[in-house]
Amino acid sequence: MANYMTWNSNTEVLFACEGVEAKDWLSAFANIRGDLNIRVSPDFGACEAIEFAVAWNNPRGFWRRFPNLRAIFSLGAGVDGLLSDPELPADIPIVRMLDRALADEMAEFVMARVIHHHRLFHRYEFQQSRNSWAIHKPPTANKRVVGIMGMGALGSRCAIELKEMGFRVRGWARTCKELPDIELFYGWDRLADFANGCEILVCLLPRTLETEGILNSGLFSRLAPGACLINAGRGAHLVERDLLDAIDLGFIEAATLDVFHEEPLPERHPFWTCSAIRIFPHVAAFTRPETASKAISDNIDRILSGKSPVGLVERVLGY
Ligand code: NAP
Ligand code: GLV
Repeated sequence: MANYMTWNSNTEVLFACEGVEAKDWLSAFANIRGDLNIRVSPDFGACEAIEFAVAWNNPRGFWRRFPNLRAIFSLGAGVDGLLSDPELPADIPIVRMLDRALADEMAEFVMARVIHHHRLFHRYEFQQSRNSWAIHKPPTANKRVVGIMGMGALGSRCAIELKEMGFRVRGWARTCKELPDIELFYGWDRLADFANGCEILVCLLPRTLETEGILNSGLFSRLAPGACLINAGRGAHLVERDLLDAIDLGFIEAATLDVFHEEPLPERHPFWTCSAIRIFPHVAAFTRPETASKAISDNIDRILSGKSPVGLVERVLGY
């Protein structure tokens, strides 16, 4: 099949997502509207014609060849990969993925893992490997402190769901915000107060120069003794050695990791054999073509009518 679908008008969109099957995206866009010409990389045709692009995992320098790009839409919520390209043209608007279905899926993952750690299921998994029968009684949810780092589209959605389940939820973000019944902390000055006494820590931050390495021994030492960690942000948030040390020292009892410095996680990585760590291969939340194509299509309309797209990335902040 030719990687080129033609509809009525001449708004040209490039789908350039390495490792992502284009077929479902093409039919999702076709179901929404018939006025886009979607080309699938590497069959660009004339680079000058491309106005919009949907991007993921592109090689360095890839975007230099499209002189008339009006926006790049990231397939994912995280734009760290796109922004890490030193040759990314400075004047092209970058738009991150904001999609309700993505937040729904992240909330499912986080709820599942928070409940897993809250109910101390990690202990039973460990016991099974030793044929051991011992009962552990957790506190009730209203006594369990869950802290969420990153209170954006995903973090705030998870916070609301966890609050609904009865947990004591607190959040940390860069700027001030309010959510009913959720204790919010913002800025570096309040990070230690946020972390003090957290029993389950969830990281849903974007990877930026400021947030790299934020999950480190200093932070772990503030948590309640034997706390659990869930990292579904980016691998670069975690100082891996510090996690292994914190587990050895009992600061951290168990961890759920969905993202890693190097993906796939190398076969010989010590995380594979650490019984306190559960590894997920970056599957916390998927971008689904059926809903995400609508988010992109709405943003194309906004830009075509002179409005700012929803989810516009602030390049200086890195998210
Ligand atoms: P978002 O809406 O941009 O929210 C980011 C949040 O992080 C905001 O609350 C922001 O604070 C906060 N933040 C950023 N820099 C900070 C800093 N220096 N100090 C304190 N808070 C800071 O992003 P999102 O859509 O929720 O996505 C978050 C991340 O999740 C993505 O970037 C991606 O890395 C990850 N993700 C992972 C998966 C997966 O499958 N594992 C799937 C999707 C996304 P303000 O609110 O004050 O701006
Ligand atoms: C996935 O990791 C995303 O950023 O959406």
